[in-house]
Amino acid sequence: MGPHENLLFKGDCLEIIQNKLEGFKGKFRLIYIDPPFLSGTQYSVKQKTPGDAENAGTLLETATYSDKWDGLDEYLSFMKPRLKAMKDLLSNNGSLWVHLDWHVSHYVKLILDEIFGYNHFVNEIIWKRTNSPKAQSKGFGTQHDVILLYAVEPDGFQIQPMYRDHDTKSLKPYSYKDDKGRFRLIEIEAQGIQRTQERKQYEWKGRTAPYLYKRATLDNWWETGLIYRSRNGRYTKKQYLNDSPGLLVSDLWHDIAPVQGASKENTGFLTQKPEALLDRVIRSSTEEGDLVGDFFAGSGTTAVVAANLNRRWVLCDDSESSIDVIRKRIEGLEEHVKYEFVM
Ligand SMILES: C[S@@+](CC[C@H](N)C(=O)[O-])C[C@H]1O[C@@H](n2cnc3c(N)ncnc32)[C@H](O)[C@@H]1O
Repeated sequence: MGPHENLLFKGDCLEIIQNKLEGFKGKFRLIYIDPPFLSGTQYSVKQKTPGDAENAGTLLETATYSDKWDGLDEYLSFMKPRLKAMKDLLSNNGSLWVHLDWHVSHYVKLILDEIFGYNHFVNEIIWKRTNSPKAQSKGFGTQHDVILLYAVEPDGFQIQPMYRDHDTKSLKPYSYKDDKGRFRLIEIEAQGIQRTQERKQYEWKGRTAPYLYKRATLDNWWETGLIYRSRNGRYTKKQYLNDSPGLLVSDLWHDIAPVQGASKENTGFLTQKPEALLDRVIRSSTEEGDLVGDFFAGSGTTAVVAANLNRRWVLCDDSESSIDVIRKRIEGLEEHVKYEFVM
């Protein structure tokens, strides 16, 4: 067992980290966890047994894990040593992502500030986890989860910029079209308060204006067909939709849908997170070949996405039925993923 293999452990994550992962200190580039969060719920996995010509399959419900605690103190004293142990596994350029919601994210943030240092906090990501919040007897319907992100070394820590698809609003300006596709217009002259009397102007192709760029740059754009001339003789630059990477992702993730009942990725595991969510987490904070950990693995979403993205992974869960779901899920992947299972 070494840091170059994918590993799946069954057991309590603190014991696993202390007893089985001594050699992995400083080796993880990313740890993502989605632990219990004091919801007071007993969770289960619902899976359909295959039917045949005579019998429709039946829906089997198996208990997975309990998120019931004897108060906040018990919950926090469970989390604290586990978060501490995970921090020791991270490399200097590593980060920890802790997925929670309103129940305890503020308490866990205090613990994480203590473990990492307040200045190591990078983001509180808000994930809109449902489009249809339940009506509440009091207050507003809850619709989001919280992901707390901490960096081991905040100086120099950098997220890979992520982009999301354009939406109706951002597509609106792309209302022009030519043989190269849809484009919008970008100003090349100073505008607003930048357009002062003192600002240098020069003449270019019959129009004198306070251009923001050098003549050589404008000539170059003109030759490559990137300049648009309006009917009144004003020039702007074309920005093609095809050249746009999309919209830069912020800390508000409202574009990732929850796992849909009928989707291929649905394992029936009640708290399963969408692969698209893990894809964003892993791609933004790791590179190919890096080691990714998830010590509250649930249905194993982290392993599936890590494998797709050519990252190595170590997963752990202490529930028998989670481990069953994870093993089936990994073994059912189109591309064979080799891993070692450790009881
Ligand atoms: C919210 S689920 C994780 C869901 C997962 N992110 C997914 O996409 O399927 C939390 C998991 O933590 C596991 N768990 C709870 N206590 C644990 C412990 N002490 N050590 C390891 N796993 C634990 C539970 O069995 C459960 O599967």
